Amino acid sequence: MISEDELRALELLKNNTKIATLNGKTYRRTPPSEHYYLHQFFWDSCTHAMGLVYYDPQWAYEELASLLAAQWENGFIGHIIYSEDEKRYFPTKELWGTEKFSQKSFVSSGFIQPPLLAISLNHIDEVLHDKGEKTDGVDSLIAGVVRYHNYLKRFRDREDSGLLTIIHPWESGCDNSPRWDSVMENIDLKTIPQRIIDLVRTNRKDISASTELNRPRAEYYYRYLYLIDLYKQQQWDTDVILDITPFAVKDVQVSSIWAKANQSLAAIMKRRGRIKEADYFSSLAEQTNETIRKCWNEKAHSYANFDVSHGQKKLIYSDDFANFMPLYSHAASDKQVTALLTQLSDPQKYWTKYPVPSVSPKSPFFEITRYWRGPTWPIVNLFILEGLKGYTAHKQCQKLFKELVKKTADMIRTIGFYETYDPNTGLADTYKDTFSGMGYADFSWSAAIYLYLKNKYPEIVR
Ligand code: DGY
Repeated sequence: MISEDELRALELLKNNTKIATLNGKTYRRTPPSEHYYLHQFFWDSCTHAMGLVYYDPQWAYEELASLLAAQWENGFIGHIIYSEDEKRYFPTKELWGTEKFSQKSFVSSGFIQPPLLAISLNHIDEVLHDKGEKTDGVDSLIAGVVRYHNYLKRFRDREDSGLLTIIHPWESGCDNSPRWDSVMENIDLKTIPQRIIDLVRTNRKDISASTELNRPRAEYYYRYLYLIDLYKQQQWDTDVILDITPFAVKDVQVSSIWAKANQSLAAIMKRRGRIKEADYFSSLAEQTNETIRKCWNEKAHSYANFDVSHGQKKLIYSDDFANFMPLYSHAASDKQVTALLTQLSDPQKYWTKYPVPSVSPKSPFFEITRYWRGPTWPIVNLFILEGLKGYTAHKQCQKLFKELVKKTADMIRTIGFYETYDPNTGLADTYKDTFSGMGYADFSWSAAIYLYLKNKYPEIVR
């Protein structure tokens, strides 16, 4: 029997879904929220599919198939696949200059997002496999996912280090995380052309659709658009961009997801007896995990990220959730796990009333309402709880895993399907009258994560 909460979540997802058609095929794909994000977003859709598969596997495939239908010749997939004729989101599709690479009406942005595609596809495969159902839908998407991984390896790890390079904060999904502050400083605001400043000032729509306090500051937005404009001038040639950009970062968060994605692709291959390919993707994952382990700094209690713009290799340490991401790909060594759990379980730091804050309240950069500088995000919790679960022999990991599943599902269920949550109260005090969560309401991601947790962990989420 489907519960009331599941019905509410499914209803929300259905209401947010749009139908798109390409080459005679139709795709149901679900934008994050009708209040602002009116297009398909890459890591959101991958997560939606992970919840939807329990109810409607065909819909789950379509979310992923739509992303793959928008794949460029070189294997790249954009982080936004634009809905046709929808102008209420900024930047609009015209600003990217990507039409010539895109697939007809499936015009995309020029950025990647955390590579959850293979993770999502593997989850679908596992669920169907366990139920003894057919997996032809998975089979039909494998070739595209391999091309996507080949793009990432070839263009985003030219040094063969194991870590991926991102060229914009939006590629991490964590747009205004303090992790990017020092790198953003590489772009002197005075050098940004006035036309870009004017473009942002006149067209920015996120602050009118939400509240200024939830969103990235103007100085970040000017730089976001400056980088888009710069890359458009390079015709989105990744090699050229990497040589000239002031923003190039090898970071632990995206790289941990990359490792997990390669493990997932290996699992998909293995289930099909494609052992050579499984070994190849496993070896990529192992390479990444090995590098991540070495990024740990004992004194900083933190993993290092690197600003690799203009051939440099500048260390970045940041007290944010990304330090827990190596749990997700099982990169963290036993010693590192112990140090991480000390921080994670500390109520003054990450184990707040509604964990896990995106930035520790102890950090000087913590801001309780501002997007990726403090609020709790269900997707972050999903990464961390799955990571903890993987340390099967570690008692405290298992305990925190169960608690986090319960806390996350309860938070979403009782407060509602919001984009983010106040880590201390669940609610945003400042906006109590108008908001009961934070960011945009009716948020697909939170609904899908609730459904995922409810089905994957029924013994914990009742
Ligand atoms: C936004 O518009 O806030 C998105 O996160 C950009 O990717």
